[in-house]
This record gives sequence, structure tokens and C-alpha cells, in this order.
Amino acid sequence: MDENSQIISGKLIRMSKDTKIPICSKATPDEMAVDLKPFVDFQDEGLSLEALDKMIEDRLIPHLMRYDQSGFQSMFNAFPEKGAEFGAMIALSYNQGVTNWQVSPGGVMLEELCCKAMCRLFGFSPSADATFMASGTYGNQEALYLALHKQAEKEGFNLAEKGLKGFKDPSRLIVLTSKDAHFSIKHAVRMLGLGEESLRFLPVDTNRRIDVNQMKETIEKLQESKDIFCVFITTGTTSTGSVDPALPTAKICKEIGAWLHIDGAYGFAYSLVPEWKHLFEGAELADSLCWNPHKQLGIPIPNSLLFVKRWEDFGRMTIYSEYFNRREDPEPNPGLKSPPSTRPFSTLALVTSLRYQGMTKVIERLQSPLVAVKEFYENLKKESDIELCHQPDTGILCFRIAPNGFPEKELDNLQRHVYDRIMAERDRTISLTKLDDKVVLRVVAISPIVTTLALMETISRVRALAKEYKK
Ligand SMILES: Cc1ncc(COP(=O)(O)O)c(C=O)c1O
Repeated sequence: MDENSQIISGKLIRMSKDTKIPICSKATPDEMAVDLKPFVDFQDEGLSLEALDKMIEDRLIPHLMRYDQSGFQSMFNAFPEKGAEFGAMIALSYNQGVTNWQVSPGGVMLEELCCKAMCRLFGFSPSADATFMASGTYGNQEALYLALHKQAEKEGFNLAEKGLKGFKDPSRLIVLTSKDAHFSIKHAVRMLGLGEESLRFLPVDTNRRIDVNQMKETIEKLQESKDIFCVFITTGTTSTGSVDPALPTAKICKEIGAWLHIDGAYGFAYSLVPEWKHLFEGAELADSLCWNPHKQLGIPIPNSLLFVKRWEDFGRMTIYSEYFNRREDPEPNPGLKSPPSTRPFSTLALVTSLRYQGMTKVIERLQSPLVAVKEFYENLKKESDIELCHQPDTGILCFRIAPNGFPEKELDNLQRHVYDRIMAERDRTISLTKLDDKVVLRVVAISPIVTTLALMETISRVRALAKEYKK
């Protein structure tokens, strides 16, 4: 297997680095449904693996998105890194459930060792611990539960037993976050029964980082009538990759006795890159932090971690049972730290990826798209027809194409037109989002194949498509 090859569906497939294949088929949802329908035509008789293989090759693969192309510039997905894929295949062959010692002693011990090693790698204190989660969404959810549990303890009761009705006045409970926080925070407060009314969204500065002065003012205003039990910041926001300042927020949280959760699902990996490390100063002070190795590290989905500053905080998640995860078990049981009872062997792919590449290569891999986006931004600063929406902290840039003399009121539609055309062409993907009330184009560089050149090619296409727009 050479450097340009990957094993996919058990087969050797040439990576598309040097070849020009569509990034995904152009099929409409209806056409795709026709192609895929035979898969769900369940029959009494089985199919041979050869027949299944052909069906997959002909009918499914053309419709899958190729994250291994430099034109994939829209989302946080990456093709599996080679070392990660190697570990994932082994995990798959043994199909280990890593909940407790009884089902996978080796899997459990490796997970425990890996969690501790990850805490050290990111500079958390020796009392920290981590748990593997299925996604950042669940990590954020568990973190908010832990924060609420702590608040309940302050009020003198056990949240696990009494639930929300233990609070004298649950309508006082508030989570402070930024307007750019990922929507999973809404899921979290919904699932906790607090509802979205418990969220207060803080404004962002010109770089779309949380505005600490506004945070202080808001806290002062709220303190009389509300209980701010959690401040939720993001180190690498989904829309612009902006890194909220952790250190001043940690100080504020300490003063007001609030739990600090950091959503580092996308961005926290970049704290390993020396030139970017300063942006994450103070992150190790957070009470909890989530991070997704299944994003830019190319670890197969799902692979996500939730860290806590004090290992004993995971005790609030613990439910013992009589058949496993027993109170008296001396061995480690990862299933005591987060809810799933059947858990994938996610650790192995992360471990094999880091060991296969070595940390020097891992950091180079992380750094490369950051440098590309920085250079891209510098290039675009000189262009009069590109409106830049922020200075990039990490690997994302939002901008608007705004040809000279183009009417302001038509600009949103122009961005939509360019986006629709790019996505229809299937040579590249970008994304469309809204910042405040403006529709903007967004590009993401998640892997080293997305170079400055590849990003500049997108700009050429954006310009050409903007010219086609009929007002
Ligand atoms: C900042 C941030 N937080 C949380 C999430 C949710 O993570 P997941 O997709 O793993 O649930 C994302 C997803 O992109 C994200 O960008």
C-alpha cells in the first residue's frame, strides 16, 4: 500500500489526489433513491459478497462525498488518516465493546491509558480525566449536566435523584454563551429540561470571539435575578473558527462560581500547533472541555472526547449495575464516566494514528491548513471585490463576493447564487451561512490537501459564477 492509497470497504482504492473525479455525483435526491433502493430490497436469500461489492461500487460509492479532494472546502470531515484506518480495521475485526472490564479487558485498559495520555498531551492537570463520546454534541450535553449537578450541590441536593424539581426556582438557571456557539448547546438545554430560555447569547467582537467586557456587563446585570451556573465558550467556532478567550473567562467563572465548559470540538486540536497555542491559553483551567478527533485528525467517525479537570466529577455520571459496572469491581470501567452501555473501541484508531505518524507529523498535518487559510486571507485582503468577514483564527474563512458597483441589497442573493452553482457543479464544495444578518460564503481547510492554491481556485470560480448572476 503506497502513500496515495487507502483501504476502503476492504478494497484498495486509488486516492484522487492526482486525478480529477467529481467530488460527488450530481444525482438529485430522487435519482439517488432509485440507485440505492436495491440495497433495502431485503430478500429471503442472501447475496454473495461479490454481488454486494458490485452493488456498492456501482450504486453507492459515486454518491459518497470525496473528502480526499482539495476541492472539499465546506465541512469538518476528513478521509481517514492511514494509521487511524489501520487501528479502526482491527477494532472492527474484533468488534470490542469497551464499557467494562468484563467485555474487553484490553480495550478498557487501552482506553483508560489513552484518556490519561490525552490529558497530559493537552496540558491538563494530573487530576484531570477524559471519556470517549460518540460526538461533540453528547460531550457538550454531558458537560452541561455536570455543571447543573454542581449547581444542585450548591443548593444542597443531588440532581441525579431529584432532577430539576430540586431547584427552588429552575427559571433562575442560566447558561452564558456566545451568539456563535454551536447549536448542540440548544440540544443540551432541551435534553436537560431547562429549555432554550435558559440560554443567554453574548455578542462577539470584530473577530467573532466572545466579547469579555460584554460578558462582565451581562453577568453584573443578571446576577441579582439569575443563577449563572455555566459559561460555555468555544475554541474554534463552527461558522468562523474563532477562538473565544479562555483565560479571562476562566478568571470570571472562578469569581462567580460558574462552571466553565469549553467546546473545542473543532478547534482544540490546534492548541498542539506551537504558533497557534497562545490562542488557547487558559483552556486547561476549564472544568470540562470537549474535542473531536474525528474532525481534522482524520480518525474514523465517531471519535470524540470529553475532558474534566477533576476526575471525580465523572462520578456524577456513575450508575452501578449488578451484572457489570459493579460498585465493588476493582478494575476500571469506562462506562461509569458517560452514558452509553455499549461503546465502540474508539481508542485504538486514535492511538495507532498518533503512533504511526509520530507527533511531529501530526502537528505538521494540523498546521498546514491553518497556514493555507492565513495566506488565503492575506491574498484576499488586497482584492477589492472580496469582503472579508473576519480575520481567521484557525482554518475557516467567511467572505462575500461583492463586485465593484454591485447593489448592496442584492448581495445576499449573489452569495446564494454562487453557492448553489458551485454545489451543482460538483468540482468543489463550499458552505453558505449567515453572520448577523448577512449571507456569506464560508471555506474550510481541514486537511493538508487544501492548499492556498486550492482555496484561490475557489475564488476564481466564485468570481466567474458571480459574473453570470442576473439581477
Ligand atoms: C464547535 C462545535 N461544537 C460541537 C459540534 C458538534 O459535534 P458533533 O458533530 O461531533 O456532534 C460541532 C460540529 O461541527 C462544532 O463545530
